[in-house]
Amino acid sequence: QDNPNQALFDLHNQAARIYHTVLTATEEGAKAREYLHNRGISDEIIEKFNIGLSLSDNDFLYQSVKQKFEESVLTNSGLITFAENRIFDSFRGRIMFPLNDKNGQVIAFSGRIWRPEDLSNKTLAKYKNSTTTPIFNKSDALYNLDRAGQSIKKTREVYLMEGFMDVIAAYENGVSNAVASMGTALTEGHIRKLRSVTKKFILVYDGDKAGQNAIYKALNLLASDDVEVVRIPDGLDPDEYNKAYPGALGTLMTSGRMAPVEFLMDHLRPANLSNLQAQLDFIDLMSPKIAAIQSLTAQDAYIKRLVEILPDFEYNQVESAVNQRRENVVAS
Ligand code: GTP
Ligand code: MN
Ligand code: MN
Ligand code: MN
Ligand code: MN
Repeated sequence: QDNPNQALFDLHNQAARIYHTVLTATEEGAKAREYLHNRGISDEIIEKFNIGLSLSDNDFLYQSVKQKFEESVLTNSGLITFAENRIFDSFRGRIMFPLNDKNGQVIAFSGRIWRPEDLSNKTLAKYKNSTTTPIFNKSDALYNLDRAGQSIKKTREVYLMEGFMDVIAAYENGVSNAVASMGTALTEGHIRKLRSVTKKFILVYDGDKAGQNAIYKALNLLASDDVEVVRIPDGLDPDEYNKAYPGALGTLMTSGRMAPVEFLMDHLRPANLSNLQAQLDFIDLMSPKIAAIQSLTAQDAYIKRLVEILPDFEYNQVESAVNQRRENVVAS
């Protein structure tokens, strides 16, 4: 065989088929599908994203594949656990989201709990990812990049989201160029991969505190890139927003984008801006960001926005702070 990892790819592809069959054709699968339907995931979406189910049985996958693969392959995949005195499936009782490489080969899984007894068990991780293997490293893996590829090329932009359910909610709203990392923060590895397919990034992270902080970190990594930000209101994540406001997510993602500077002006704004020094510090923080904007009309608009939240400063004062920064930019 040409590719030394071919057996690993084959095993993952077979496992995905088995998980998918379990979800679509067993009694436990019918219950899991009910969970998915309640979350707004249709059978059509289950097919499109090849969603599956790992049985709560100890070794259903192992029994299904052990004749076809060498033990070393099963071990290396991480899908089967070989303990001292027993062999069992690593994923059990979870809804399985396959992660594909850019050619559509399955290289890993993320499994979500769904059974009522598991949902109320606070010691269980909500999602469990495949371990690192010769074909999977979660630090540069992107969910849905294979399916989104064409749409990314056509639109020349990519949406970055936090969760699989968010990517699926976007797809249901006609946005097919969205990807998500595997529960990790955005890394240089992700960015390198994405820069090779597009130059434009739109961040659509969760509306909660963690998501907003993640946007801030991502903006630092993408400081030299063309980026826009979509904020999901009410502290919701995109999937929750889709449930609360059916049909609105697509419009928000295409028409509700803001420039990084607008996001930062709100995100970095101190809770208390009543004293003078806090206002001066904030002017210092925002001036270079406003000075870096190409359009003078836009600079003017952001200066006005800044003046609105500063009780002791007027337009001309903030403008001269920005102009000073602009001269610094030109001079350096
Ligand atoms: P849902 O509850 O199914 O809607 O998931 P979510 O995507 O909204 O989850 P959340 O916002 O809490 O987390 C974002 C992403 O982080 C998820 O899509 C997962 O990839 C990852 N994640 C969340 N919880 C866990 C966990 O317990 N373990 C691991 N490894 N990853 C997690
Ligand atoms: Mn099918
Ligand atoms: Mn979150
Ligand atoms: Mn979320
Ligand atoms: Mn969610």
